[in-house]
Amino acid sequence: MGDIAPSFTFHDLAPSQESFRDAVFAGLSRDPKSLPCKFFYDARGSALFEKICDLPEYYLTRTEIAILDRFAADIATRLGPHCRLIELGSGASQKVRILLEALDRPAAYIAVDISREQLRKSAARLAADFPKLAVVAVCADYTRPFTLPPLPGPEGKRVGFFPGSTIGNFEPRQVVKFLADWAALLAPGGEMLIGADLKKDPKILNAAYNDKAGMNAAFNLNLLARINRELGGDFDLDRFAHVAFYDEAQGRVELYLKSLVEQSVQVAGTRFRFGAGELIHTENSYKYAIDEFRTLAAQAGFEPIHTWTDRHQLFSVHYLRRA
Ligand code: AVJ
Repeated sequence: MGDIAPSFTFHDLAPSQESFRDAVFAGLSRDPKSLPCKFFYDARGSALFEKICDLPEYYLTRTEIAILDRFAADIATRLGPHCRLIELGSGASQKVRILLEALDRPAAYIAVDISREQLRKSAARLAADFPKLAVVAVCADYTRPFTLPPLPGPEGKRVGFFPGSTIGNFEPRQVVKFLADWAALLAPGGEMLIGADLKKDPKILNAAYNDKAGMNAAFNLNLLARINRELGGDFDLDRFAHVAFYDEAQGRVELYLKSLVEQSVQVAGTRFRFGAGELIHTENSYKYAIDEFRTLAAQAGFEPIHTWTDRHQLFSVHYLRRA
């Protein structure tokens, strides 16, 4: 023994280019128009999202990190030794490091993400930094059914990690379905740590998604730039504007791209017409009070064990166990 060479394996279950094309054609043919938010995250979009996370107005990332930092020891005690952590939408794998450092001999980390190159880089870096950890990177679109490769042993508790309030992108009833799918990935038993953004003063929310530096706008508009790059579109980005606001009745921030003039745009030979002021819906970001989220989790058969929050009640990290 004594062998601590980094262990890192890569599995490519990548969605084909067709799925982006199909989604764009379907979304732009619909009335009202919409595009799925999962396509924000090409290499440029992922880099722009990292910039959003550093914005003064975008409290989500730094608040969640502060919660994980502050309660790392408590979380580690509750999770116990030899955990195998599974993260969907692992991004730069920054937050999981806090857990991996605090946990007692974590056995494996399975990172699932759609952004192939970022995934490869961050998983390799993580494997180098945690040589005793078995790191498995899976390039997949986790919003569709997929199966995990066999997990490296030794047998340990499976814990799902879903930080960042990505859960807020789902409709509430989809959350229940999504958590039930998680239960299957984690079976038998299974526990989860999920980050969820809390309901709060709409001013704070509106500022977070309409930052002064224009990063949210660049992130949103990158979706059109991506269509231009990958699908041969001719969107004029100066003729579309970023729109984001908190809808209090729905409990969600909504993102749109607004056509500033009447225009038509070609994407790979197909023409799409836009009226002046017409909106393309690009994202919902739901905000959940602690009890609201716990109620959804319970509908998926998860028992809420504990919820950590920050002092200002901006963000929550839920610890759930499959009953
Ligand atoms: C990555 C889904 C959590 O909803 O706050 C940031 C994405 N959209 N700015 C969010 C996002 C606009 C973000 N999530």
